[in-house]
Amino acid sequence: MNLILLAAGNGRRMKSNLPKVLHEICGRSMICRVLDITQKLKNLNTTIVVQKDHNLIKENINKNIDEKKVFHFAIQNEQLGTGDAVKSALNHLDNSLFTLILYGDVPLIEFKTIKLLCGNLDSNSDIRILTANVIDPKGYGRIIRNKTKQIIKIIEEKDASGEERKIKEVFAGPLLIKTKVLKKIIKKLSRNNKQNESYLTDIVGFAAQQKLKVQSVNLKNEDEMIGVNDQSQKIYAEKVFKRRLVAFYQNKGLNIIDPERFDIRGELTFKKNVTIDIGCILTGKIKLGNNVLVGAYSNLKNVEAGDNVEIKPYCHIENSKLKKRSSIGPFARLREQTTIGQNCRVGNFVEIKNSFLGFGTKASHLSYLGDAKIGKNVNIGAGAITCNYDGINKNITTIDDNVFIGSNSSLVAPIKIKQGATIGASSCITEDAPAKSLNVERNKQTTIKNWKKK
Ligand code: UD1
Ligand code: CA
Repeated sequence: MNLILLAAGNGRRMKSNLPKVLHEICGRSMICRVLDITQKLKNLNTTIVVQKDHNLIKENINKNIDEKKVFHFAIQNEQLGTGDAVKSALNHLDNSLFTLILYGDVPLIEFKTIKLLCGNLDSNSDIRILTANVIDPKGYGRIIRNKTKQIIKIIEEKDASGEERKIKEVFAGPLLIKTKVLKKIIKKLSRNNKQNESYLTDIVGFAAQQKLKVQSVNLKNEDEMIGVNDQSQKIYAEKVFKRRLVAFYQNKGLNIIDPERFDIRGELTFKKNVTIDIGCILTGKIKLGNNVLVGAYSNLKNVEAGDNVEIKPYCHIENSKLKKRSSIGPFARLREQTTIGQNCRVGNFVEIKNSFLGFGTKASHLSYLGDAKIGKNVNIGAGAITCNYDGINKNITTIDDNVFIGSNSSLVAPIKIKQGATIGASSCITEDAPAKSLNVERNKQTTIKNWKKK
């Protein structure tokens, strides 16, 4: 089959300078959501119609679609309507095949629906369109049928009479047509209508006039056909899609405390007995092991958590790996390739960046650990920090196994604290600490007895 995917519109109603098809539904652009579905079709000759300046769209597709079949990009120079957009793709079509046309702003369409639309074709099929009976037809093309229920044409809302506007059966967007028929009929399109646009939908009327076979497949679930033209439709589409994801995850056993207060903007995989408390936002690739608990209002982006990890409320964790049985938060921030080893404890108001913590290490309160390689069973006292940045370079702190870092210490990197060393509280450490040594850098306390306040 040929596929034409329309993505060249101006999207003015979005009131945004991002191309419309790049607006995201649950963390993935609309165009990629549509491509996710079409990628499942075999032997597809895909042409994406875009504006001249379409690098952002190309980049988004390259970044997010893994297995790339060949995509042709056809340029629509001027935004003269959907009919004109299809014209710009004609060169790429194989005449011997059918052509499926999809709109890039109808992102919730499901694979089973596309399969239904494209199923049981015979040589007599000329055009097949997807329609739906909706409660509120506003904005969609209305399906006009004659007394014997045959489709005569599609009329766009702006051109429809008062009576026609009352029709609840609308054009959902997806359309299948014999390529030779498309190439012939498309020449007939004019821009003689209220919007001065070339309407792709007019081909249905021309086909009916020529007694070609116009068929329709009626969509039962109207949520699938939501067209996203403005911000409120985008929010609605996001809600519907999220509901779909929640159902999918719940079905696999995920314990989502409140689906209304759960946001997923990426891909989630999980094992048994995983709980996500309210208000969490999961972005990118998230992988959770058995018995993982994600506490309320936590933000996770590209995170892998092993079995029995507990993430307490209000954590921000990005590009990090948490090994088995570690406990994070509340109010912890982990970022930039941090790995927390097994049985670790990272407590409140601890920030860790680009660091590794070995088995059983604890940083329970108020610390900053940046560019640090920390061994096993290390204790990082409250308020201890690595001074990793000298104004020009980021430097590494190495802390070996069984080290004790006293509270409120500053470790000025590059620095090495060797195996079993102790750093006395409140020390500013600028030189390497040998194994098993005690290191204190602290002024002697002055005590004035019986001192009277002025
Ligand atoms: C269109 C249909 C309408 C249908 C609805 C389904 C037409 C004339 N109308 O209306 O019958 O019910 O979709 O959601 O087709 N595009 C281009 N180049 C252009 C104009 C648009 O590539 O010059 C692309 C857009 O990027 C978009 C798609 O075509 O992905 C649809 O365009 P849009 O303007 O949103 O059409 P609707 O008014 O929603
Ligand atoms: Ca639209």
